[in-house]
Amino acid sequence: MTVPILRTLSALRSATREWHAAGETIGVVPTMGALHDGHLSLVAAAKASCDRVIVTIFVNPKQFNKASDLASYPRTEEDDARKLVRFDVDGVYAPDVSQIYPEGFCTNVSVAGMTDVLCGAHRPGHFDGVATVVTKLFTQTSADKAFFGEKDFQQLMVVQRMARDLDIPIEVVGCPTIREEDGLAMSSRNLLLSDRARTMAPRMNEIMQEAATALSQGVPFDALQATALSRLTGAGFIDVDYFELRSCATLSLLDHASEPARLFAAAWLAGVRLIDNIDVPVAR
Ligand code: PAF
Repeated sequence: MTVPILRTLSALRSATREWHAAGETIGVVPTMGALHDGHLSLVAAAKASCDRVIVTIFVNPKQFNKASDLASYPRTEEDDARKLVRFDVDGVYAPDVSQIYPEGFCTNVSVAGMTDVLCGAHRPGHFDGVATVVTKLFTQTSADKAFFGEKDFQQLMVVQRMARDLDIPIEVVGCPTIREEDGLAMSSRNLLLSDRARTMAPRMNEIMQEAATALSQGVPFDALQATALSRLTGAGFIDVDYFELRSCATLSLLDHASEPARLFAAAWLAGVRLIDNIDVPVAR
């Protein structure tokens, strides 16, 4: 059995038109490929609540602010299609660039405010690229529901805001981060880690868990930040882009876990940028 691969917008539209005409709901799982169990958990969630499921695979050039990062992004389409067979998805939309950004394309979707912090501050233009391509994927697929991982929590918030602001009739569903047994958050970028870096990578999550425990016991963030940062650098994360406590609702900085909060971290390990975020229980 194989999964139908749709390469053009017209092929996608003729499938989705038929499904909607038959009264079926459509779920979309937007990805850039190199599928892992985190993506597959989104596919399973989509299958559980939609009649039809489309997985999109498109390595979006507009969200990479370094040409080398775009060039080295893993591309494993055949493998990806094989992994999707057991989920019986209705199609993989894997367009080439001309289907998303046709000649003369000059529109930019930009979500103000919440994109100025965290990854937005360290990857200029990244979230404009994400918001622009996700707007296209939402309107091209005309899906009723879209599934995103909390691993990219800021991205999830940006996409939810964008869909609300633009009145796109889609429900954006956030799904929990899936982790390796040693706690490392699953990410396509993990494929880029050397064997040695892979053994070091789970330390980021361990350090975050220790900090989250202290925060939930009422320790203020500024009392533990320096220790956490030096543990991260000691564990091989030489450049730390951020290690911050922020509100789940607004992404504003917090010093205490006095409201629903998350710890966010991004750091470079042996040339690979890893990000993670975890829930911090409200301090008693
Ligand atoms: O999370 C990703 O893989 C990408 O940012 C997305 C949402 C598919 C947009 O290109």
